[in-house]
Amino acid sequence: MTTCSKKLDALPPYIFTRIKALAAQAAAAKLDIIDLGMGNPDLPTPPHIVDRLIDTVKNHPRTHRYPQSKGMPRLRKAIASWTKKRFDVDLNPESEVLALVGSKEGVAHLCAAYLDPGDVALVPVPTYPVHLNGVFLAGGTVHPMPLTPENKFMPDFGKVPDDVLKRAKIMFLNYPNNPTAAVVEDPNFLKETIRFAKKHDLLVAYDNPYCELTFDGYVAPSILQFEGARDVAVEYNSFSKTYNMAGWRIGWVCGDKKLLAPLEKFKAFVDYGAPSFIQLAAAAALEGPQDCVTELAKVYQARRDYFVGELNKIGWPTPLPKGTMYVWTPLPESLRKMGSLAFAEKLVKETGVVCTPGVGFGEEGEGYVRFALVAHNDRLYDAILRIKKLLREAEGKTPARKTK
Ligand SMILES: Cc1ncc(COP(=O)(O)O)c(C=O)c1O
Repeated sequence: MTTCSKKLDALPPYIFTRIKALAAQAAAAKLDIIDLGMGNPDLPTPPHIVDRLIDTVKNHPRTHRYPQSKGMPRLRKAIASWTKKRFDVDLNPESEVLALVGSKEGVAHLCAAYLDPGDVALVPVPTYPVHLNGVFLAGGTVHPMPLTPENKFMPDFGKVPDDVLKRAKIMFLNYPNNPTAAVVEDPNFLKETIRFAKKHDLLVAYDNPYCELTFDGYVAPSILQFEGARDVAVEYNSFSKTYNMAGWRIGWVCGDKKLLAPLEKFKAFVDYGAPSFIQLAAAAALEGPQDCVTELAKVYQARRDYFVGELNKIGWPTPLPKGTMYVWTPLPESLRKMGSLAFAEKLVKETGVVCTPGVGFGEEGEGYVRFALVAHNDRLYDAILRIKKLLREAEGKTPARKTK
């Protein structure tokens, strides 16, 4: 039998596939699963967006035909108007916006469109896995830029060696950040990013799907708001988190025509874009009332307050994030030595609570786990009780239960 490529073979199975398998085993063992693993929103898409989809599919059969891969003009216009309103950034909808079949697709294909074997991508790590795997699958090489509490989870450009910079073509950035939940506190960071990218001829792929999920009055910027950004940066965004449309598979990337051109060309070879009825419903999401977005951010903020507050109370010191739907926390002291994968396995096997091991976001994520706040507070309460019991057992304060 013929075999898969060496590139694919070199990659371990996708982290969320592994976590789902563990959760399925725990469910088969009759454990009640509380799944805080994937950032998969638990709340439904707002009804006016769903209604738009139903009406379009039912009454507009032309939307059943092949769409064009760059996206329908109607959606691209809605994206340009939203970007103007939200960030005061002007985009030409015809040439500076590309619709994507989810931003994950667009990130992977950007790598394929830009990288040749031997080319380097600078990737802050830990990171959303496609920033790493998209590079590997395109035959490129990742140069990791570690995100640590010491550098406030911001990359240190000064630490990238000159020989790496000579081969580097792309740099990923993602704030509010998955998985660390860090945000850009100082706008000078983005100015410095643009200077650095210009100096070293880098394309900055700024991944911004959590810009609307921020707390305590923090407002996330777009890199495109900063002078000179258009020369070096494209920005991704997504309907998945802002409108609870993760399963609809629709997102976008915007920026200068010349920077988008390779991705547009590549996509025309490999896809036809998201279905037209999804694109029109996505346009309705951007053009319709935005109070659903404000409400959603409040829901995540309340979940964050509750979950992080309780983790701290039960003796698991955890920082309060300013954005995203994630809680990123160092492994509890008593279980630190086992590492994040073994911890996540133990947690799901013994308690049914699913989290994502930090190492799944790159080696630099080791020592941490990520909880996604994708359950109501009553389920988060159950999760806390179970985690507390696990911690007390680990600290030797209650008799350990027998494991199989
Ligand atoms: C940083 C980041 N980029 C992209 C995505 C993928 O978004 P989409 O659903 O639009 O593919 C995610 C999803 O979790 C993410 O965290």
